[in-house]
Amino acid sequence: MAVRGQFSNRLGFIMAAAGSAVGLGNIWKFPFEVGQGGGAVFVAMYLLFCFVLCFPVMVTEIAIGRKTQRNPVGAFNALGYKNWNFVGKLGILSGILILSFYNVVAAWAFGYVFELVLGNFAIGDAFAAGTYTSDIVKIGAYAIFFMVATAFIVSKGVSKGIEKATKILMPTLIVIILFLVIYSLTLDHAWEGLAFYLKPEFGEVNGKVVYGALGQAFFSLSLGMGALITYGSYVSKDDNIITSATLITLMDVGIAFIAGLMMFPFVAYLSGGTMEGVEGGAGLIFVTLPGVFESLGAAGAVIGGIFFLLLSFAALTSTVSLLEVPVAYVVDEKGVKRERAVWLTAAVIFLIGIPSMLSGGYSEFFSKFITYVGAEKATDFLTFVSDTASDTFLPLGGLLITVFAAYVWKKNNLNEEISIGAPNYIGSFVSKYISFAIMYLCPAVLGLIFVLTVLGKFFGIQVFG
Ligand code: TRP
Repeated sequence: MAVRGQFSNRLGFIMAAAGSAVGLGNIWKFPFEVGQGGGAVFVAMYLLFCFVLCFPVMVTEIAIGRKTQRNPVGAFNALGYKNWNFVGKLGILSGILILSFYNVVAAWAFGYVFELVLGNFAIGDAFAAGTYTSDIVKIGAYAIFFMVATAFIVSKGVSKGIEKATKILMPTLIVIILFLVIYSLTLDHAWEGLAFYLKPEFGEVNGKVVYGALGQAFFSLSLGMGALITYGSYVSKDDNIITSATLITLMDVGIAFIAGLMMFPFVAYLSGGTMEGVEGGAGLIFVTLPGVFESLGAAGAVIGGIFFLLLSFAALTSTVSLLEVPVAYVVDEKGVKRERAVWLTAAVIFLIGIPSMLSGGYSEFFSKFITYVGAEKATDFLTFVSDTASDTFLPLGGLLITVFAAYVWKKNNLNEEISIGAPNYIGSFVSKYISFAIMYLCPAVLGLIFVLTVLGKFFGIQVFG
């Protein structure tokens, strides 16, 4: 078997993992969730959840990966618990499903770069009317391009592919986002936008918002499917897992927060300070923003193009991590060479994504794929896969991973692995907290999210108002 890849140093790992974390979730989803969920109250809750609930899961995943040097399925086998490797299999299935639709959304965003640079500001209306997403030739071409770019990076291996690409893309992304923040703050009504973003609105917070924030934190940090078991398996024993996980979490939260600083002034500018349109949900980026760029005149084409390039870069470092998980499985467990494994896996996932691609209006069947119990409207295939894999499988996976680490593998073994590269860890407050979290807090909360999602999404039973 070929030598297993490794990140060349700690920075390489942090960049790759932060690249996985920072994605469409941060720039597309986070701002509109803040808009709908009580502004600063949501932001504060989100921060808390990232560190209190998600951080222990992240550390656990990385430690399992580094200990075993294996993909999520092989990791459970290597620890001697073959009957737990179904958790890894669930993770790999989740990765395949998430990438299959995530690539389609990434393709929409990537297409916008061209539309806006060419001055086609009407694209927002086309999106709202469904004519953009149902233009299957265009979207298909963008989606193929995006998957090929992802596969190309992954095919070059861990240090020469994933690490090298993220070391270029992440700094570029940070420069672009800072530029856009500064630019948006110079626009009229910028401060009204910021006030909307950062003013706490307790009245809007309800149970649904709280568990929405939890789910979002979990997805954004790329947890629950073994993406970080996989990346952790390429980490050297000298690395301090606690410090790395802290930096990854900070980068993810930081970039989501900064994305809000850019987004709300944009919307304020368009709405003349009334913030109308901010509640538009998913439409915020694809429908509202083209209007903002149009109102900026000639500069709008450039700013708009840059914005969607930013979104595409963020998505690319995430699709890379999603593809790496099934690839690592095929390479480790089936002994297939990396290149071959990559192109095969990418092709299969692309095919699985075709129904998602068709569900944006092109195919009536996939666009109105399923009507959940108690729902008024049908759900399209893409949303259905996202509801299933991202919102349901990931919390379930996280629950199983923490239960496994705490009660099966045992917390002492976990702590011992973490302490390699972190000399003061054993006996520290952090180690006590992590033990507590994976034994009680994480299983309880993740279990609750799982149950609430299944009941609320699929069966129309809203436990919280
Ligand atoms: N975290 C990414 C985002 O916010 C998406 C993502 C990439 C992901 N890899 C993952 C989510 C693994 C869960 C698991 O857009």
